[in-house]
Amino acid sequence: MPKLLYIEASPRKSRSKSIEVAHTFLTTLQSTHSSVDVDKLDLWATELPRFDGDTVEAKYAILHGQSHTPEQAKAWKRVEDVIERFKSADWYLFSLPMWNFGVPYVLKHFIDVIIQPGLTFSFSPAEGYKGLVTGKKAAAIYARGGAYGPGTGAEDYDLQSKTLAGILGFIGVTDFAHIFIEPTLAAPADVEATIAKAKELAISTAKAW
Ligand SMILES: Cc1cc2nc3c(=O)[nH]c(=O)nc-3n(C[C@H](O)[C@H](O)[C@H](O)COP(=O)(O)O)c2cc1C
Repeated sequence: MPKLLYIEASPRKSRSKSIEVAHTFLTTLQSTHSSVDVDKLDLWATELPRFDGDTVEAKYAILHGQSHTPEQAKAWKRVEDVIERFKSADWYLFSLPMWNFGVPYVLKHFIDVIIQPGLTFSFSPAEGYKGLVTGKKAAAIYARGGAYGPGTGAEDYDLQSKTLAGILGFIGVTDFAHIFIEPTLAAPADVEATIAKAKELAISTAKAW
């Protein structure tokens, strides 16, 4: 039974465009893979470990090849638990708004928790960096008020998809589909057409899994 981790990063819930299209993706996937096990991670309803104190020192202990103090080990276990949940999935679906050209801070927090040496990537002088999260499929639904696609002249400001695709690629998730909903702050009729197009792409992407 494939497991899909659905990571939701918009706080707008029923008003969110990225969540609306993600639901279309999930419904399609569930109709073609009736056995898929969906684990939803609502980043606005989840308390992630704060990356300070014993948690950050536990990371530095690993980087310096030192063992953890009991307090660091306890703090690090919370990081490992989040990573275990992430790595236990076969498939990933992300839905996210663009905030100040990048990703909402709750998603950045999640990224800062899961990107860890020895757990999601490794480094050796002989091999360099190696992603440890391999053999997965991922899709992301990006909503943005403006337009950043090819020909808009604003491509360089799209740090939202660059951040997510870059970091997931770094840990080995390279089979990655990107679905954009833009511009969501246009006239309502235009937004409706934009959402309809994104839903079509979500359906064809989910059917191909
Ligand atoms: C804090 C904040 C920052 C935003 N920054 C940007 C931005 O830099 N560029 C942009 O095009 N839209 C920006 N927007 C608009 C959202 O990206 C847009 O409304 C999008 O549809 C939100 O996705 P959602 O409907 O899934 O929540 C911002 C919205 C908020 C609340």
